[in-house]
Amino acid sequence: MGVTIRAFDPDRAGDTAAVLDICVRTGDAGRDATGLHPDARALTDRYAAPYLALEPEWAFVAEADGEVVGYLVGTPDTPAFAERFAGWPSSLTAAERAAHVAALGSAIAADETQAYPAHLHIDLLPAAQGRGAGRMLVETFAANLAVAGVPGIHLVVDPANAGAQAFYPRVGFERRRSVPDGVLFVRSCG
Ligand SMILES: CC(C)(COP(=O)(O)OP(=O)(O)OC[C@H]1O[C@@H](n2cnc3c(N)ncnc32)[C@H](O)[C@@H]1OP(=O)(O)O)[C@@H](O)C(=O)NCCC(=O)NCCS
Repeated sequence: MGVTIRAFDPDRAGDTAAVLDICVRTGDAGRDATGLHPDARALTDRYAAPYLALEPEWAFVAEADGEVVGYLVGTPDTPAFAERFAGWPSSLTAAERAAHVAALGSAIAADETQAYPAHLHIDLLPAAQGRGAGRMLVETFAANLAVAGVPGIHLVVDPANAGAQAFYPRVGFERRRSVPDGVLFVRSCG
């Protein structure tokens, strides 16, 4: 399977649907979360849809044989994204939305935000994993951030996701510490 990377295209048939589907099929610490939530928007309205809606130019997809098999979504500016997320209409209750905004704001310490303001979510279907697409997506995102003058990226990994914890150090991330929602990793873009 040859995998290529391209920008997410909101006008392209299937891009949005594929990203939301893959979000669910990888949403249980990297494994399939289909059926785990009464409403799959518990996942997609936190980890995929708001990025496509609010930061479409920072979304990228991995394609194989004309099908979207993975994606990276993110933002160059987490505090600004959190503010916009708070006002973005979604299936989440006000309390759920507030809790998610708080989680976005507390992933890194205030004095780390300047160095690592961006964050990302990356997911590939099982058949597309282990073929270099994850590395290509991360490098594409980081290169675009560098051009925009954004210094670094942070992200939080579910402690149950051993594969992701092994992946991030291989693509330039440094493990910082355990945080309430998981394990914090950071990487500079330069
Ligand atoms: C984690 C994920 C994004 C990695 O993408 P990928 O395309 O499979 O990874 P790549 O093929 O680009 O691998 C890049 C490097 O990471 C290593 N790596 C990737 N997955 C690994 C794993 N599960 N265990 C150990 N090493 C791994 C590769 O060996 C490679 O190292 P090398 O180039 O130094 O030899 C992908 O497997 C995935 O989507 N998993 C399910 C969803 C998920 O967990 N998302 C992350 C949520 S935080």
